Amino acid sequence: MTTTTGTTATATAATPAVGTSHTRMEGRAKVTGAARYSGEIPFAELAHGWLVLSTIARGRIRSVESGPVLAMPGVLAVLHYGNAPHLEEVVGPFGPNPVIQVFQHDRVPHVGWPVALVVAETSEQAREAADALVVSYDQEPHDVAFSAGHPGMYTPDNTPMLLAETEKGDIETGLAASAVVVDEEYTTPEEHHNAMEPHAAMARWDSGRLEVVDSNQGAFTVAQDLAKLFSLDPASVRVRSEHVGGAFGSKGSTRPQTVLAAMAATVINRPVRVVLTRRQMFSLVGYRSPTAQRVRLGADADGRLRAFDHQAACLTSTVHQFVERSAAYGRVMYDADAHHTVNRVVRLDVPTPSWMRAPGEAPGSFALESAMDELAERCGVDPIALRTRNEPDVGPVSGLPFSSRNVLGCFEEGARRFGWADRDPRPGVRREGRWLLGTGTAAATYSAGVAGSTAAVTAEADGTFTVRITAADIGTGARTALTQIAADALEVELGRVRVKIADSDFGQAMLAGGSMGTRSWAWAITVAASELRAQLALTGDIPPEGITARSNTAEAVSALEKRERHSFGAQFAEVAVDVTSGEVRVRRMLGIFAAGRVVNPLTARSQLIGGMTWGISMALHEEAIRDQASGGLANGDLAGYHFAANADVPLIEADWVDDPDTHDPTGIKGLGEVGIVGAAAAIANAVWHATGVRHRHLPIRPDRVLLAGTGDNRAG
Ligand code: MOS
Repeated sequence: MTTTTGTTATATAATPAVGTSHTRMEGRAKVTGAARYSGEIPFAELAHGWLVLSTIARGRIRSVESGPVLAMPGVLAVLHYGNAPHLEEVVGPFGPNPVIQVFQHDRVPHVGWPVALVVAETSEQAREAADALVVSYDQEPHDVAFSAGHPGMYTPDNTPMLLAETEKGDIETGLAASAVVVDEEYTTPEEHHNAMEPHAAMARWDSGRLEVVDSNQGAFTVAQDLAKLFSLDPASVRVRSEHVGGAFGSKGSTRPQTVLAAMAATVINRPVRVVLTRRQMFSLVGYRSPTAQRVRLGADADGRLRAFDHQAACLTSTVHQFVERSAAYGRVMYDADAHHTVNRVVRLDVPTPSWMRAPGEAPGSFALESAMDELAERCGVDPIALRTRNEPDVGPVSGLPFSSRNVLGCFEEGARRFGWADRDPRPGVRREGRWLLGTGTAAATYSAGVAGSTAAVTAEADGTFTVRITAADIGTGARTALTQIAADALEVELGRVRVKIADSDFGQAMLAGGSMGTRSWAWAITVAASELRAQLALTGDIPPEGITARSNTAEAVSALEKRERHSFGAQFAEVAVDVTSGEVRVRRMLGIFAAGRVVNPLTARSQLIGGMTWGISMALHEEAIRDQASGGLANGDLAGYHFAANADVPLIEADWVDDPDTHDPTGIKGLGEVGIVGAAAAIANAVWHATGVRHRHLPIRPDRVLLAGTGDNRAG
């Protein structure tokens, strides 16, 4: 690596920016309303598209009666399968993805499938016309009833993108030889992510290029998908998403409204914007499948695992296979001579699920970290001691060494700060008026991935630097973190660095997903900055257009030594359970994480606290109810779909222990997802400790608490 300290262009900065708290670069613009989101940027001649979604769960569209609607005020077009332009097939990470090949056939695979787009001069006119549009169907019987025992349940093939099943040793032998066995089923309901900023896209043709302003987690991927769908030269598609108001996986893939904005703009030859409503988001942006998970743990009397079996079931749609990998969690966390994990799936007449924060690990950790607590109870071992006793030396399935694994450091620090040592392990014995009190803990992990990315860094003639990378800031503070990374890599002050993101014209880069963004982008920026400094060392003058260095980390990333790379954590919760109403209140939470190098402590802490808050929602509130008769949701809005509000969220502390990852050039692991992992289990375990009753089905609603009663039989 070349060092160029001493050149005028790279005067040494006093202190490194990474590791220091910085408020968001765009914070002022956001709180003053100057930052514009995809749904609110003005465009001349803008027309508005309004989606019409199917009301049946299975069947065919018989007719779309466009005539009367086309005569309504302001209506410009009604697009549907009968008149839509042809779209090519797009192959995504899980194979061909018909979810975004909209309006190509008359089949309806679920309630909420896009059947028409009404385009009008104003959004109100489009909405009124969309409401008036009559679509008739030939309806067929549907099946939306999920259960682990569904006859259609199958084990998908193992592929590089989906490891469905792993097995070593013999589970039955291991269980038979065990002194203590836990064999329980845990369920989590259908859950939805519904970002503050609804999905929105504007598309227009400008000088022969398709220009799209969209709300997504990765503009390059969306641009590529649009090019493929519409058979365009990839260079003639530009997608930008400068500000994104939350995503959580729901904006991690191209969604139908973006394709439809582009389709409508092409058909009417005007800019068209399509914005989703809250209710539409419940069927169009993906969600987390319900899960039913059987966990079988066999252990010696001291709690050491002999047999480990995690069988997870989830659902997908009839059009595309997306699997919630709940059983992936134990492949990292716990080892046993007999070890089996499997993710099964059934195809039902429901929308296609997708990534939702900590996909797999969130529900998987609920089941497994609850089961570990049950094992601790049955062995009479402290839950933290049980986990210490079962710390693996290498990856339980891969056999690979960990790049770093400081889960015990998290438990140690967490136990100290939470006051775990004073805990009376007996359940149902702490009472405060009508409240029963308890505490619980759980481990957490999420993979630390990386993907090859490109970046460009320019030394400007005025002594500043411009970084260009197709990163996305979905509210996490990515723009700020990358500015810190770039400043340190260039050895200049933060104020001299400008980071431009979320423009597909900047080239390929990892999307903001899978907790892989910061690590992937930081690597690319660091390489480009280093290359730039080498160039600057050879020249004194910077021309008016500046000097630009580019990077592509694809090769370096694939040459990375194979290791188990993960963030880890320990979650702690204290709850109070009202024996008269069944209400569970979380009183405090503490999460201690080992997540590699932390770039911006301020926004990192926010990420973790956000995840833990979501854990409260998952444990106590969130539950989408799918109506068997209609096949749609009974509570597909934010009135009926409950989640933790401010009053439900107590003091939450999140912090981290040192976790140097010397096997990675960035040392960054990512912490977007790990905050939710284990959080619901810690709460459920605390509810057991308070009441003496295990709750294996989320959410832990008051009626479930009352029905189950409590250990001291004074309620229910
Ligand atoms: Mo995250 S669910 O990969 O956006």
